[in-house]
Amino acid sequence: MSIAPMPRYPTGFRWGVSTSAHQIEGAVTADGRGPSIWDTFARSPGRISDGSSGEVACDHYHRHGEDVALLAGLGVSAYRFSIAWPRVQPTGAGPANAAGLDFYDRLVDELLAAGVDPVATLYHWDLPQPREDAGGWLHRDTAARFAEYADLTAARLGDRVRLWITLNEPFIHMSLGYGTGEHAPGRTLLFDAFPVAHHQLLGHGLAVAALRARTASPVAIANNYSPVRVLSDRDADRAAAATYEALHNRLCTDPLLGRGYPDLPGLDPSVVHPGDLDTIAAPIDVLGVNYYNPTGVRAAEEGSALPFDLVPLDGYPRTAFDWPVAPDGLHELLGWLRDTYGDALPPIEITESGCAYDDVPDADGQVADPERIAYLDGHLRAVRAAIDDGVDVRGYFVWSLLDNWEWAEGCTKRFGLVHVDYATQTRTPKSSYTWLRDVIAASGDGSAR
Ligand code: BGC
Repeated sequence: MSIAPMPRYPTGFRWGVSTSAHQIEGAVTADGRGPSIWDTFARSPGRISDGSSGEVACDHYHRHGEDVALLAGLGVSAYRFSIAWPRVQPTGAGPANAAGLDFYDRLVDELLAAGVDPVATLYHWDLPQPREDAGGWLHRDTAARFAEYADLTAARLGDRVRLWITLNEPFIHMSLGYGTGEHAPGRTLLFDAFPVAHHQLLGHGLAVAALRARTASPVAIANNYSPVRVLSDRDADRAAAATYEALHNRLCTDPLLGRGYPDLPGLDPSVVHPGDLDTIAAPIDVLGVNYYNPTGVRAAEEGSALPFDLVPLDGYPRTAFDWPVAPDGLHELLGWLRDTYGDALPPIEITESGCAYDDVPDADGQVADPERIAYLDGHLRAVRAAIDDGVDVRGYFVWSLLDNWEWAEGCTKRFGLVHVDYATQTRTPKSSYTWLRDVIAASGDGSAR
């Protein structure tokens, strides 16, 4: 397909791809790993659309060498992966399981040998099941346990990981995992799930201190953002959109950047203890931005459990997830972050951006994914436009390197630059992989900011 030449990116711009432990590793009982909430959830009938689990996923635990070679071939300067808490602490407490840490130790060394910076996320939703049994993120103690896990991990890897990300998307984990129950652990507490956000953020703040005490830095958090589009001028719709915006985009970011929680009905402030907001607002070096799509919002019908309805946005192409392809939303979001948080906003890296399509190998085994190329092209141009507007964006990580286990959608949604045949574990780089490789190579020297 013909696409106009890509713009140049600033010198040192970080090109990366992202994955997460439970979505690719498999090997869920290897080397002493304990069960996580996702192992339990996937066993519960009806939770995962195709009935699959993360038991094997992409078998990355055994095939990491091949996957590091794919990263090297792509020419990325960084790889964002996550560390499975239940490998490091099988019960979510107590001393480190050395064999679990050995895996990440090897991976980090392989990445460095391949010239790829390791970017490690400490928590991408795989809470050790015994922690959940003790109350999970609803319980304040989980924040302290998380900081202990961060300390154990930094003690082993702190000298070689180039960027630490404490949490992945605390808002999404709270809302889908504990609010509506579509994700593990499957609780349906709606607004009563707020302690889950607070305790994750408290855990983040305590983990930042633990990482810094081990001189493990720089430190970041990865939040999910979605520009909110109100569907009419009606007061009720505007009020619903304002509520959703505060929840999705500000609930976590406001306290992280020193503003305390936004004013939202239905949140119980008693879980916020004196001093917590200072802990949460500990300075971070980078804000990770995960962006997929904008959200259409209108007021809910009378009697609904939530005060807003999320509605599909017309006028955009759609991915296999039925999400709108809206690079303009990324441009808008980056400007919104700068305008909203001003000097309090640290440098930004786009820590996830990507799309699912029904990619199928052709008769020759090639996988053409022109829609993904168009998606990445548009989103990279949106990043460049934001940089031109003066937003400090220092990196872009594609979600994802591999087709992988897409949570409640199981193996049915393919986000990879590399196709995975789950029956044989054969990896086939798609045409988007070759396209991105060429973009990165051409952009290698960067240009003056
Ligand atoms: C998550 C990923 C997930 C992706 C696509 C993000 O919210 O961090 O784990 O695969 O969305 O759904």
